[in-house]
Amino acid sequence: MSLAPAPEGAAGQTGDSSVPRHVAIIMDGNGRWAERRGLPRVAGHRAGAEAVRRALQAAADHGVEVLTLYAFSSENWRRSDEEIADLTGLMRFYLERELATLDKEGVRLKLIGDYSAFGADLVQRLETAVEHTASNRRLTLCIALNYGSRAEITAAARTLARNAAAGTLDPEQVDEAAIAAQLQTHGLPELDLMIRTSGEVRLSNFLLWQAAYAELLFLDLLWPDFDEQAFGDALEHFAGRRRRFGGR
Ligand code: FPP
Repeated sequence: MSLAPAPEGAAGQTGDSSVPRHVAIIMDGNGRWAERRGLPRVAGHRAGAEAVRRALQAAADHGVEVLTLYAFSSENWRRSDEEIADLTGLMRFYLERELATLDKEGVRLKLIGDYSAFGADLVQRLETAVEHTASNRRLTLCIALNYGSRAEITAAARTLARNAAAGTLDPEQVDEAAIAAQLQTHGLPELDLMIRTSGEVRLSNFLLWQAAYAELLFLDLLWPDFDEQAFGDALEHFAGRRRRFGGR
């Protein structure tokens, strides 16, 4: 993958509020894409990984600061062992093949979710990639792995309760900012736009707190068919909604 320089006029990083700073995507429909072609599900996931590259390129082109992708939900463990192995294998392959390019192109990798569940080898590769790209500033690629929003909020509540019980936190000081500071997305800009592909209209336990004020966009196309054009259309849609409703 190679991230071409952002075209002239790209905003986002330049403070234009019609460009979302933070975009999240529920990448849905890999299985159906493969099924419609008579291919095994893994072929859909492979094509989905190519769509990840296109989405990343498009996000960088438009000056988006953070792209958060739902790569593996805590519910995905219910899939067959074979499919889980395919998905983790694909992530390992992607990391191996793309890390140098991501780094060269100024992409910082961030992880949310309890990725420790993926086994020592993948965990080590993931952490190496995060460390390796930590000082990059062009775009943050935040990958949600074994992520569940309710678990994230529950862990935040548990930490605050522990601190209160230990006497280091006054319960009266527990406000929205205190909770947000315990979430794994702490430090990232507010989520502006959430996209879900495949025609399903639900959030599936993804970024529930963070999506409170986000624009939600549900697209009929399947994730492997998502491309630069679809990303550009989504951003146009976002800019239109912004203009109509004003706001931040
Ligand atoms: C949903 O499609 C997609 C997933 C569960 C996995 C997403 C993973 C990738 C796009 C591949 C690699 C990721 C990275 C970050 C390199 P589905 O299988 O639920 O589709 P279906 O609903 O049509 O069955």
